[in-house]
Amino acid sequence: MAFEKNILCIGAGYVGGPTMAMIAYKCPQYRVTAVDINPERINQWNSDQLPIYEPGLDKVVQACRGKNLFFDTDLEQGIKEADIIFVSVNTPTKTFGAGSGMAADLQYWEKTARQIRDYAESPKIVVEKSTLPVKTSLAMERILTNDSDQIYFDVLSNPEFLAEGTAIHDLEEPDRVLIGSHETESGLEARETLVEIYANWVPREKIITTNLWSSELSKLAANAFLAQRISSINAISALCEKTEADVSEVARAIGMDSRVGVKFLRAGVGFGGSCFKKDILNLVYLCRSYGLNEVADYWEGVVRINDYQKDRFVLSMLNAMFNTLAGKKICLFGFAFKADTGDTRESPGIFIARELAEEKAELVITDPEALSNARIDLADLGEQVDYVEDPYEAAEGSHAVAILTEWGLYRDLDYERIYASMVKPAFLFDGRNVADHQRLFEMGFNVFPIGKAPLTHY
Ligand code: UDX
Ligand code: ADP
Repeated sequence: MAFEKNILCIGAGYVGGPTMAMIAYKCPQYRVTAVDINPERINQWNSDQLPIYEPGLDKVVQACRGKNLFFDTDLEQGIKEADIIFVSVNTPTKTFGAGSGMAADLQYWEKTARQIRDYAESPKIVVEKSTLPVKTSLAMERILTNDSDQIYFDVLSNPEFLAEGTAIHDLEEPDRVLIGSHETESGLEARETLVEIYANWVPREKIITTNLWSSELSKLAANAFLAQRISSINAISALCEKTEADVSEVARAIGMDSRVGVKFLRAGVGFGGSCFKKDILNLVYLCRSYGLNEVADYWEGVVRINDYQKDRFVLSMLNAMFNTLAGKKICLFGFAFKADTGDTRESPGIFIARELAEEKAELVITDPEALSNARIDLADLGEQVDYVEDPYEAAEGSHAVAILTEWGLYRDLDYERIYASMVKPAFLFDGRNVADHQRLFEMGFNVFPIGKAPLTHY
C-alpha cells in the first residue's frame, strides 16, 4: 500500500518514541519511522522489552509496529524519504562553558540540523519537538538554509506537553496541541500540514496555532508555572510543620477555588523529571541574557525552594534519628521521579540518597521499575547501596523507611510485617504523604509526613 505521507522522527526517546507510536496508531495512512543513533535503543523498540516503561505503550506499539511504524538506525535513508521530520533529540542543561548549569546543551540538536541539511534531497517540514530555548528555531533555519543549496525547509515548533506515566493518555486526549510557525505563506502552509496530522484524532478547537516565538516560550512558561505550584505548596509545607496546620487540608482549601484548581498542589520531596528544572533554568538564562534580572530571580526561586525541600527532608531524618545516621540501614521506597515510570532523571531520590550516604548511612533501594536506572545513577556509591526488588526484603533490618515515590503499591503494603522486621525505634518518613499515618503510628512507627505534625512515641 502506498502511504500518504512519510513521517520521520529523529531521536527515539521518552518523547519521540511514544509520540510516533501514537501518530502511527491513529493514522494508518502515514508511514512513521523513528530513528536513533543508539542502536541498542532501536533494538529494544523492535523487541518485546521496550526501552521505556509507559503504561499502555506496549499495546499501541504492538498494534502498528511493522505495519506503518518502524524503528531504525538509518538516519540518512530516513531523511531522504521523509516529508515531515520531527526532531526529538536530547537537549540537557549545559555542563561546561558559558551558561554552564543553566543554558541548554544544543550539540545533539545542532548535529541533527546539519544531518538534515546534508542528506535531504527535497523540501521538508522540520518540526522542533525537543524543548529548546526561545529563538532556537531561527538558528535551525540558519543551519538548514545555506546559499549553495536550493532545498527549502519550513521550521515549525510543536512543543511536547506529555507527562511520563500518563504519556499515552496525554497523547490520545491532549488538553491542547500547540503549533508555532512563521506567519509567511509557506510557514502557514506547513503549519496546516501539521494541523491536519493531529486533526486525525484531536478536535480542531484543541489545536492552537501561534507564531514561532510564542510557541517556544509557551513550553518553558507552562513547565515553569507547573513547577511553581509545587514549590509554592512545598514552601507552605515547611510552615505547616512549624505550626499546627496540615498541608493536605491547606492544599484542599486552596485548590477548591476554581481560579486556582486542584492539580499540582501535592506537597512532597520536591519535583524531579527531565523537564522542570531544565526548562526553568533555561527561562532564567534567557531572562538574564535580556537584562531582566528581577524576572530571572523570581523563577530561580522556584528551583531554590525545590532544593530546599530536598535538603529539609534529609535534615528532618537526621534530627529525628538522634542526629546520627552512621551505620544505620535506611530503606528508600521508590527512586523514580514520580510513580508509573522507571525514569530517574533529576529524581529527588538521587540527591537524598547521596546526602544520606554522606552521613554514612547504609542504603537499600527498592522500586518496581527504576532499579536499573538507580544502579547507574548511584554507581559511584558502590557497596554502600543495595538494590532490592521486594519491598519487604528491602525493609528488613532497617532503622527507617523513607517513601520517595508515590507508587500505589506503597499505600497498600503490609506495614505490620514491615514494622516487625525493622530495628526499633522504627521510623517512617513519608516524602509523598501516601501512607495511612495514624495507622502506622498505632502500629508503633514514628511517622514523619511532609507538612504535617510528626506522630512520635517519645
Ligand atoms: C512535565 C509536565 O507535566 C509535562 O507537561 C511536560 O511535557 C514535561 O514535564 P513530567 O516531568 O513527566 O511532565 O511529570 P509531572 O507529572 O509534571 O511531575 C513532575 C514532578 O513534580 C514529579 O517529580 C512529581 O512527583 C512532582 N509533583 C507533581 C509534585 O511533587 N506534586 C504535584 O502535585 C505534582
Ligand atoms: P527526551 O525525554 O527528550 O525524549 P531522551 O534522552 O529520552 O530525551 O531521547 C533523546 C534520544 O535522542 C536518545 O535516544 C538519543 O540517543 C537520541 N539522539 C541524540 N542525538 C541524536 C542524533 N543526532 N540522531 C539520532 N538520534 C539522536
